[in-house]
Amino acid sequence: MAWIVRGLWSVNPYKMVIAVANQKGGCAKTTTAVNLAAALSKGSKRQKLPPAKVLLIDLDPQGNCATSFGVEKKKVKRTAYDLLTNDTGEDLPLMDEYLISPRDLTESMKEAWSMRNGGKAAPENLTVDNLWLLPSDIHLSGAEIELSHKIGRETRLREALLPIIDNFDYIIIDTPPSLGLLSINAMCAANWVMVPVQAEYYALEGFSMLMNSIKMIQRRINRNLKIFGVAMTMVDARSKLSRHVCDQVNTKMPKKLFKTTIRRLVKVAEAPWSGAPTVLLNKPTNSGAGAGSLEYWTLAKEFHQRVMAMRREFGVNEQPRLLLDPNR
Ligand SMILES: Nc1ncnc2c1ncn2[C@@H]1O[C@H](COP(=O)(O)OP(=O)(O)O)[C@@H](O)[C@H]1O
Ligand SMILES: [Mg+2]
Repeated sequence: MAWIVRGLWSVNPYKMVIAVANQKGGCAKTTTAVNLAAALSKGSKRQKLPPAKVLLIDLDPQGNCATSFGVEKKKVKRTAYDLLTNDTGEDLPLMDEYLISPRDLTESMKEAWSMRNGGKAAPENLTVDNLWLLPSDIHLSGAEIELSHKIGRETRLREALLPIIDNFDYIIIDTPPSLGLLSINAMCAANWVMVPVQAEYYALEGFSMLMNSIKMIQRRINRNLKIFGVAMTMVDARSKLSRHVCDQVNTKMPKKLFKTTIRRLVKVAEAPWSGAPTVLLNKPTNSGAGAGSLEYWTLAKEFHQRVMAMRREFGVNEQPRLLLDPNR
């Protein structure tokens, strides 16, 4: 019976486990994963976005998700590496021992902010109540080789997440810039793929390779995997090439392309240095320092609206977990 239940969880079209993937490096996978996770967890009255419980998983050995929240690498204890290489056959104590809690994430962001700002007290915006992080570190780079002879090497993340999947509204998985075993683990655990595409010439070449990989995974390991959306990133509205790439992606996948595009903006790039995602760090504004923040908030809102539309279509009435939690 267990295997039937185990096999079923990813079928739920409203269970939002999303791999942020594109084998091209530097197309804003991490930036998109981190900002979406922060915005969806925080919620915003202004954006009509309810708060949700979110787990962000870093499957890139570079470990950039943790640094995006100001978490110092030396403070990270358990990582995605420990999870993937677990051979005990037992469920792991993920919530208690593996995930960085909202309280610790908040503390890290505030400490990093104070350090960069001459010891001043950090703003309250840098508080997250509903966001957990499974960090990674450089050890993960050896996991692909270590796992190559192990049982269930492609489905290890999926198995490990199973006991905690219902604790969250969204599980967002950041992936490395390759289509190796780590990305395959992400796409086996997920039922949706979110693809950030950088608006530049070579972007489209990689795009078709990614589509082929997704098809291959659908065929062989996870037939429930689907593309949730494609987001154009680092767009330069004045550049003809940028507009051309956006138009081409729109022609290829009109239903999947998000209306919201993310422009190339210096504040988005600077945010990891300040130890917090731009959506928390910069007050969203139409222009100036908050423009990138507003664009990612708008993307999160469009993301949420797409989920709601899909749930209506499937006749599913799943409330965000926070609204059901009597203790909150
Ligand atoms: N909208 C943006 N404007 C300017 N710089 C950006 C933007 N999005 C990402 N960056 C920067 O581009 C680089 C690559 O982004 P990153 O999210 O790390 O990509 P990936 O995870 O796909 O390798 C980083 O230095 C990041 O800060
Ligand atoms: Mg990355």
